[in-house]
Amino acid sequence: MSKIKTVFQCQACGYSSPKWLGKCPDCGAWNSFSEEKQSPKPLKSFGLSEPQPLSKIVGGREKRIPIGIQEFDRVLGGGLVNGSIILIGGDPGIGKSTLLLQAVAKIVKSQESRVKSQISETKLRTPNSGLRTVLYVSGEESPEQIKLRAERLSIDSDNIILLPETLVENIINAANDLKPSAVVIDSIQTIYTEELTSAPGSVGQIRESAAKLMFFAKRSDVPVFLIGHVTKEGAIAGPRVLEHIVDTVLYFEGDRGHPYRILRTMKNRFGSTNEIGVFEMTDEGLMEISNPSELFMSERPLNVSGSTVIATMEGTRPLLVEMQALVSPTTFGMPRRTSMGVDFNRVNLLIAVLEKKAEIHLGGMDVFINIVGGLKILEPAADMGIISSIVSSFREVPIDPKTILFGEVGLSGEVRAVAQGEARLKEAAKIGFKKAIIPKNNAERLKNDLGLTIIGVKNVEDVIENIRI
Ligand code: TYD
Ligand code: MG
Repeated sequence: MSKIKTVFQCQACGYSSPKWLGKCPDCGAWNSFSEEKQSPKPLKSFGLSEPQPLSKIVGGREKRIPIGIQEFDRVLGGGLVNGSIILIGGDPGIGKSTLLLQAVAKIVKSQESRVKSQISETKLRTPNSGLRTVLYVSGEESPEQIKLRAERLSIDSDNIILLPETLVENIINAANDLKPSAVVIDSIQTIYTEELTSAPGSVGQIRESAAKLMFFAKRSDVPVFLIGHVTKEGAIAGPRVLEHIVDTVLYFEGDRGHPYRILRTMKNRFGSTNEIGVFEMTDEGLMEISNPSELFMSERPLNVSGSTVIATMEGTRPLLVEMQALVSPTTFGMPRRTSMGVDFNRVNLLIAVLEKKAEIHLGGMDVFINIVGGLKILEPAADMGIISSIVSSFREVPIDPKTILFGEVGLSGEVRAVAQGEARLKEAAKIGFKKAIIPKNNAERLKNDLGLTIIGVKNVEDVIENIRI
């Protein structure tokens, strides 16, 4: 009898080793190894194993079905792609199950009307009921619990099929019988395969189950959503292994204390990775917010120092957000620098630019920066916002509440143009801003009058001069 081979796998990244290790040499996690049976033989291919010329391959497989929730569709790149596999990660209780239940209800609804109108279309693989259903597999909640949630969301349909099951082979059999138009797995950490002996939730189980589901998705052309939990560090458990397998990785983020939630793309084989979708969690479920700028502006304190509004781009969409700085004298030795929502090193760099080029001395000052609403802004267009809020807080001079800024700042204190200036200004004009301080190059390129007073600036000193009204 052949000996069963076991390996030790890092539960954080999937690195495997023949013996137990205290620290993972790949991702650096401590005490993360556990013993697992070696993975079974790899799955077969999708059946397209012969080399073929590109021109002979029939395109159009990437047919998109809009879900019907605009914010969700945009994040996916314009709708759900047949046969794609989508991972949605997020903290427990953030609303992943709610979001997907609402999405499922929308898909079912649009399929019902589609099937009615296109009954003769050849694309329908099953002419009768099959395509209209969506399979919702729950390994966490009982059907009664899901029913309770559905009642709260006023969702009811014969075509949403619930399956409380955790064995992946059974799930795939059920899906093959049902031929649904989509499958939701809530959550991938509870799913296991018979082929491995390790516990559900271990890296081996997650990878094998996800691989089987991917195989099912590609072969049957049915899109599959996987819900994934997030570890304390904020990564989807078993992250690297899953991120390679799936087509799209979305994160559902938000602060439990705030009602709004952001759906963000981390990876998308079928679209841009810069898009965000904004939702608000209400008593009747998640509501789409099609104008997030207004939301982020609604609680802004007026005429206080250290607060600036910047115009940033999230994918194709301009977004106005408030940036706050607090500059106060250091009480113990080393000055503290903290930034939330913007890159910490960027803040340090801009503080150095302010010291050197504008003679604003922050050596004995603690500096805290925060983006309101829990947003993260990584583009350099936020530089001008960081500069102006620090200066405003340092000098205790409020910035005119009807002024917005954007622009990149270089190491020699120069202000550089950023992309999509006009889109940003239009959004600002729409929300009711009156004045914009922007890079000179952006100002010169503007063609249309947007109803804003535009001030083009060349360097940090210009910025500081212009924010003091
Ligand atoms: P849930 O979707 O169960 O989160 P997850 O699947 O990510 O763990 O959402 C749970 C939270 O959402 C819970 O705290 C209650 C809240 N909620 C509402 O505020 N309104 C609603 O209509 C629903 C269904 C949930
Ligand atoms: Mg859930």
